Amino acid sequence: RKDLLGLRFLTTKEIEEILNLARDMKKSLVYKIDRTSTLKGKTLVTLFYEPSTRTRTSFELAAKYLGANVVCIETATSSVVKGESLIDTARTIDSMGVDMIAIRHPMTGAPGIIAREVKAAVINAGDGINEHPTQALLDMLTILEKKGRLKGLTVTIVGDILHSRVARSNIFGMTKMGINIRVAGPSTLIPPGLQNLGVEVYNDADEAVKGADVVMALRIQLERQKSGLFPSLGEFHRMYGIDDRRMRLAADDAILMHPGPMNRGVEVSYEIADERICTADEQVTSGVAVRMALLTLLSERSAAYENIV
Ligand code: CP
Repeated sequence: RKDLLGLRFLTTKEIEEILNLARDMKKSLVYKIDRTSTLKGKTLVTLFYEPSTRTRTSFELAAKYLGANVVCIETATSSVVKGESLIDTARTIDSMGVDMIAIRHPMTGAPGIIAREVKAAVINAGDGINEHPTQALLDMLTILEKKGRLKGLTVTIVGDILHSRVARSNIFGMTKMGINIRVAGPSTLIPPGLQNLGVEVYNDADEAVKGADVVMALRIQLERQKSGLFPSLGEFHRMYGIDDRRMRLAADDAILMHPGPMNRGVEVSYEIADERICTADEQVTSGVAVRMALLTLLSERSAAYENIV
């Protein structure tokens, strides 16, 4: 496989391979082991058509920690603003001998479109409401480290499921790893057909959280809502926000996850985000490790400069 387009396409064995290497990479980060010879001479380009703090920075740091060259393309100051198409932009980057391209784009399927056009390995860093595979991998790495296993756990995802590529990738990835998934949110923010993916759907957040090993809170993606918001942010916090009371319904040793960016006072209470059970910061560290693992595995698969005379 040249690219990572989504967890929908990966096998359980491939997910395990990435997580195993990511665990090693995380140890390197914690113990400051030098890995800069791993990707010496390789190049990563990050091409983000949407804002990002965690994903883009951690891709760039992961590549640098492995000794790769890194170039970040700001679409707002690139020839994209002169009307250059996605495919032409990708082919231009590819012609510079790049090994890997990490792309974030508002359109579902954009990474797959350019993957067919370039020799570089393409990594989906989030495409519209479709998938965010590296986020789900880093979520699974964090759970694995906190719980010692994935199989048999119950993960409850609460919030704006409809617009969440994080939820979709986690549903695809976690069900493959034997995790039971519950989702909770207002009917307006839950896509149809989730039961067909083996997911339990709840409108009552208390019921969904009861006994869960992991609670994952998702923000409302106002930027993707076409019509007025229902419920309002205040109503949403009361009905679906995770606070101490709601979290106490989960298993005694449950953890609270959040992919970020976090809206305190909306999907989580102000206080709970700073409690020890909240793994948001740990997830960010896992993100660097997962991306180090992926870059290592995918760097061998690009065909940069092949067929160029
Ligand atoms: N979780 C996540 O994708 O965060 P960013 O949008 O900051 O990259």
